[in-house]
Amino acid sequence: DVKRLVLALETSCDETSAALVLGGRTILSNVISSQVPLHRKYGGVVPEIASRKHIENIIGVVDEALTAADKKLSDIDAVGVTYGPGLVGALLVGVAAAKAMAFALDVPLIGVNHLEGHVFANLLAFPELEPPFVALVVSGGHTSLVHVRGYNTFELMGQTRDDAAGEAFDKIARVMGLPYPGGPEIERLAASGNRHAIAFPRALAGKDNLEFSFSGLKSAVLNYLNSAAQKGEPVVLADVAASFQSSIVSVLVNKTLQAARKAAVDTVVVAGGVAANGELKRELSVICEQENLRFFAPPLALCTDNAAMIACRANYKLLVGKVSDLTLNAVPSLKL
Ligand code: KG4
Ligand code: ZN
Repeated sequence: DVKRLVLALETSCDETSAALVLGGRTILSNVISSQVPLHRKYGGVVPEIASRKHIENIIGVVDEALTAADKKLSDIDAVGVTYGPGLVGALLVGVAAAKAMAFALDVPLIGVNHLEGHVFANLLAFPELEPPFVALVVSGGHTSLVHVRGYNTFELMGQTRDDAAGEAFDKIARVMGLPYPGGPEIERLAASGNRHAIAFPRALAGKDNLEFSFSGLKSAVLNYLNSAAQKGEPVVLADVAASFQSSIVSVLVNKTLQAARKAAVDTVVVAGGVAANGELKRELSVICEQENLRFFAPPLALCTDNAAMIACRANYKLLVGKVSDLTLNAVPSLKL
């Protein structure tokens, strides 16, 4: 039962990250170079800029990860890399670098699905956690409920028909004049608002399916702001933020509970950037306690994009021989 040292790279969006993880669960280093300040002035991620920055950063980030872990390239047993979903130009930087390193070191290369990585962040954070469980993956690009039956067996139970939860946060923040990324800004503003102030829609909430839809909510908030502006009525932005957040959170919590019941599991985890949201975590933990479900939420640093979660996932693929070859390519719309 050897513990392998996996180096992983993550460049799917606007963070350049490299990590060293031992035996799948022990983080030796997890270096993240964020481009957020760079993209902020454009109100969102500019793909071309992201790719260029990844190219500039990747070698330095790998060096830093090695130094922080006190390891050499020759200590590495395998190289993992995110190959999708994400921005194609951004993904390609990580994929090309990982291929070069795996080839030069003559070690296995493991392509990792970014969403599976987010789910596996929970395994890094909680040593006692084992499948089966249901994972709510909520990020800027995805809103999915996943039944994790085993370390290498997943079933997509439901996902969004339109906007992702994080995307909804980001878009609403933008129309409210808040900087990118919008999630943390809305959460901050919502803290001083009344979440019962405005009754925004809770799409598909009562429906007996595990799909999400947030475009109607987005329109409702836009209409509310526009009509107030037209009538010259004052708007309490904190109330809008709190009501919007409450609407999203209630749908996410409700569907997650339905998924846990349907999959007949006793454990629920949350993952992805939106898992940083305090109200979401509070509401999930309350409902899970009521329903006798164990609930796990990774710490902030493991919720947002990072390479440690990719290394963790790569380790479990390696254990069952799910390795890639040098024809590995970026797959921007990779499915679970
Ligand atoms: O997982 P992530 O870092 O990147 C993707 O894979 O998309 O998620 C980023 C998303 C952004 O949409 C951001 O607004 C959202 O996560 N986010 C939050 C919070 N922190 C980050 N959403 C709500 N509340 C937060 N505190
Ligand atoms: Zn992500």
